[in-house]
Amino acid sequence: MTTRSELILVEVDQHKIVTLTFNKPNSLNALSVEVLSVLKSQLESLKDQDIRGIIITGAGEKAFVAGADIKEMLDMSNQQALDFSLLGQEVTVLMESLKVPVIACVNGFALGGGLELALGADFIYCSKNAVFGLPEVKLGLIPGFGGTQRLGRVIGRNIARELIYTGRNVSADEAHKLGLVNEVFNSIEDLIAGGKKTLIKIQKNSIHAIGKAKSATLDGIDLELKDGLRIERDIFSELFDSFDAKEGTTAFAEKRAANFQHMRGE
Ligand code: CAA
Repeated sequence: MTTRSELILVEVDQHKIVTLTFNKPNSLNALSVEVLSVLKSQLESLKDQDIRGIIITGAGEKAFVAGADIKEMLDMSNQQALDFSLLGQEVTVLMESLKVPVIACVNGFALGGGLELALGADFIYCSKNAVFGLPEVKLGLIPGFGGTQRLGRVIGRNIARELIYTGRNVSADEAHKLGLVNEVFNSIEDLIAGGKKTLIKIQKNSIHAIGKAKSATLDGIDLELKDGLRIERDIFSELFDSFDAKEGTTAFAEKRAANFQHMRGE
């Protein structure tokens, strides 16, 4: 029996990188209401912490997350299904609202809600045994944690529709070719090490600026180009009174490495 606190393991390393690991490998880390509630409160508490990046992955060799918990969904009423869908969507929106980069490290099956969760991350890395898919139509359902909205935004509407309508699985290599995955690693160990290496490389830059770049790239996505450009220039100009922008530009002029404080500062 896995206790509530063991459902998702939390580890923070010396680089302030947090690894969240779904920890129900016997059920391929399927997402129950309880698991999603734990994830939601963990993400909420991480919002205020001094961290530099997050890795999300699954325990075991077989699955990242094999989807929403189908056994739990069996008896759901319309209202319970609505609440479940809202909870899953809230979690993905929370991931997007974090000011630090989130990498989904997909170490096996990322099906249904598992892929939808990964789509809430800034980008996806995977191991070569990874399998992606949105098989909900095989259950007489549709994706409920954002898959119908985000997959098309990442790989294009028509390919997304083909994958959603057929419910077919996609290998790591195909996912890479489709632009769903940024990089494929040979082993799960290499995958996690690769995710951390990227987050360490990112944190050499101003994390304050990274957070702003994250909002600019997200907030503009559904707008007309001219409105997206307005968001960009507003954020760009706001940054000029930040400590990190002053430090970064001064360090360049003085031919030295920047010593970012990773905060707005004055
Ligand atoms: N929900 C609940 N339990 C699940 C699960 C899921 N999504 N996926 C796997 N499990 C459980 C299995 O029932 C099994 O449990 P028992 O040992 O108690 O029988 C255990 O995990 C191991 O799974 P399998 O024996 O099935 O393993 P396999 O290697 O033969 O097959 C698999 C692996 C192809 C991923 C298969 O488990 C599978 O098809 N899983 C369901 C995938 C799916 O349809 N996901 C979408 C869910 S719907 C959704 O996500 C809705 C949404 O958008 C919100």
